[in-house]
Amino acid sequence: MATIVPVAGAAYSAVLGVGSYRPSRIVPNADIVDAIDSSDEWIQQRSGIKQRRFATPEETVQMMSVAASRSAIERAGISAAQIDCVIVATVSHMLQTPAIAPAIAYELGTDQAAAFDISAACAGFCHGLALADQMVRGGGAGHVLVIGVERLSDITDTTDRGTAFIFADGAGAAVVGPSDKPGIGPVVWGSDGEQYDLIRQKEDWRDVIAAGKSEMPNLMMLGNPVFRWASFTMAKVGQQTLELSGLTVDDLDVFVPHQANMRIIDAMARAMKLPERVRIARDIAEQGNTSAASIPLALDRMMVEDQARSGDIALLIAFGAGLAYAAQVITVP
Ligand code: UT7
Repeated sequence: MATIVPVAGAAYSAVLGVGSYRPSRIVPNADIVDAIDSSDEWIQQRSGIKQRRFATPEETVQMMSVAASRSAIERAGISAAQIDCVIVATVSHMLQTPAIAPAIAYELGTDQAAAFDISAACAGFCHGLALADQMVRGGGAGHVLVIGVERLSDITDTTDRGTAFIFADGAGAAVVGPSDKPGIGPVVWGSDGEQYDLIRQKEDWRDVIAAGKSEMPNLMMLGNPVFRWASFTMAKVGQQTLELSGLTVDDLDVFVPHQANMRIIDAMARAMKLPERVRIARDIAEQGNTSAASIPLALDRMMVEDQARSGDIALLIAFGAGLAYAAQVITVP
């Protein structure tokens, strides 16, 4: 009987390069408070956000992704033609089909790389990283480009008190490839569908059309239950992730959680008892919550500012709508 020949991948995988793109429009709290009867003080106190960035019409999902990817590819020291797979994590590419990934793969000049989008909201980048790690080690791809990108300003109601001050735009990317030592630890991931409705598109498109409405079904979020879930459950996920990688908090150099809320970041760090010397990503203050883009944006910033150095051990924890989460330890490239 015929047998299928299996393909062997690399012994280990690692993140080889990281890049990001920050849109040009800087929007301080003062510019959004009137529409939501809020204040700069309230927003900073409750979320840590001082300003966010919104994309201009030219700064499309594709444009921002390509810019972030070019930087990641250059830093990885490879050519676009060496990328075998492009994974795009996003919820704000506004075509139901096709995915945006093939257009990005083409513009980058890959050699017809496999390309697809994934929808795991704010947890999308770490889901993509987990897939990339397993593809490289499983033999499915030599190099994988993982992109997290959002234009949440397109789908955020500027008059909604629960979301208007949080969500923002941007793109981040990472190249994953073979390595002679482990550079990406095992993923801890999961979902809690019981809380499916806490962050969601307000309405199904068919209901919007049936009701004859002309406005977009924007994002809605019941922030407080998400806040409580993230603060407690995600710290446990962080501990499990370290354990599964054979590490403790004492081995950590850098913590890059999803940039959802400064208070959640602080609560997670406290609950995990992170030593003082662990450097913590706090990109949210200037960038807002960019969902799938937040972790690579925050990591890239730390690398540029010498807060995350080559060889450092970094814990990534991503969480959001679904509710979905994914976390892993990586070595900083
Ligand atoms: O990225 C995906 C995952 N998302 C997250 O992780 C976000 C998680 N949630 C959060 O970050 C927080 O829940 C928010 C920052 C969204 C809100 O903070 P909160 O501490 O949970 O506030 P709250 O919703 O419990 O509201 C507290 C008070 C309420 O007033 P009362 O009832 O105490 O008098 C609200 O009416 O603040 C009021 N409030 C506001 N005031 C000024 C709610 N929204 C606003 C606002 N401006 N925008």
